[in-house]
Amino acid sequence: MQRLTLLSQESMLTQAEIDALSGKTGLSADIADHMIENVVGIFSLPLGIARNFLINGREVLVPMAIEEPSVVAAASHMAKLARAGGGFRAVASPPEMIGQMQVLDVPNLEKAKSALDDEKEYLLQEAGKADPVLNELSGGARDLTVRLIPESPIGPFLVIHIIMDVRDAMGANAVNTAMERIASDVERITGGRVLLRILSNLADRRLAHATCTIPVEALAFGDYSGEEVRNQIIEAWAFAAVDPHRAATHNKGIMNGVDAVVIASGNDWRAVEAGAHAYAARNGRYTSLSTWSKGEKGDLVGELEMPLAVGTVGGATRVHPTAGAVLKLMNVKSAGELAEIIVSVGLAQNLGALRALSTEGIQRGHMTLHARQIAASAGAPPEWINPIAEQMISEGRIHVNRAFEILKDWSRK
Ligand code: MEV
Repeated sequence: MQRLTLLSQESMLTQAEIDALSGKTGLSADIADHMIENVVGIFSLPLGIARNFLINGREVLVPMAIEEPSVVAAASHMAKLARAGGGFRAVASPPEMIGQMQVLDVPNLEKAKSALDDEKEYLLQEAGKADPVLNELSGGARDLTVRLIPESPIGPFLVIHIIMDVRDAMGANAVNTAMERIASDVERITGGRVLLRILSNLADRRLAHATCTIPVEALAFGDYSGEEVRNQIIEAWAFAAVDPHRAATHNKGIMNGVDAVVIASGNDWRAVEAGAHAYAARNGRYTSLSTWSKGEKGDLVGELEMPLAVGTVGGATRVHPTAGAVLKLMNVKSAGELAEIIVSVGLAQNLGALRALSTEGIQRGHMTLHARQIAASAGAPPEWINPIAEQMISEGRIHVNRAFEILKDWSRK
């Protein structure tokens, strides 16, 4: 495939890594069998490369694993627009994850809280011993806070948060192990009973933030002036800012980009999804994760902030050969850098959706890809997919029955 030749010229990937990306090798049944239980096979997704991304001044080829048409094209197109304003600026906060411990049957909540505060240094030290490698890398337990829950369906209880710097890991294992280690100490100190010890997916101390500034003239296309496009994008965003029904769809568009990179890099996209939506509701009402506004010079300014608990070590990131090649292709040196790329892609994707929705609508761009998908699902051989799609579009009859008919007709000739 021509695209793979181009990719090997543009990147430092070895032939084995190119093979892992192309699907020639990649995840084997043997490796899969060691990843989860009762394995019977491997489920594949298309892997596309979004182009034109300039992130913190660095060119990045962005691999995206996704089944939905238009997403990769929109990301590449919007990244091109963002270049006109210097690309994306992104920053990730320190990789601090929160572990939660639920302590029940505490005889005196206030006393227990102050006893825990007194023993905080000891508890942090003990928690830190759970992962010596993390300590060597200057990560480890950073802080411990205690909350009293005065009322709940089972009465009052106590919650401990342990803050851990998990460096380049996603962190679930490090956090959960550390909490299990200190559970008996917590019971001794509080006189209570520890029930849950688990990481929180609302990773609101591990945020990634991206901005882009698009010169207004770069937004003009077709019959639309740059000012019109900018204003309509801001108007479309305002809908999501005030209405949860719209915000859910708006944020889903952001997650189209975010998840595709999270999946391609072998990370836990359910964790990222959970964190994103909980963060979107952090002020008591579900709202947009992004903001769009008019800059001082009339530019369009976009911002996206969200929790991004992703790792570059551990889990599937290193076990899945394709994920390894994906990380190398993006040339990321840390989990923070990966988060900076992901949040930028999320912002680009959001821009693509708002720009299309607030101007010509999304169906036009979708149709060709949609028709191709229908042709493929009807069993068209690869060389017939495009011609069948084109015929269905020209007839205005894009559905699988019509694809079957054309296929049957052409097969007879
Ligand atoms: C479709 O996958 C995503 C969009 O619905 C996002 C949005 O409405 O902003 C187009």
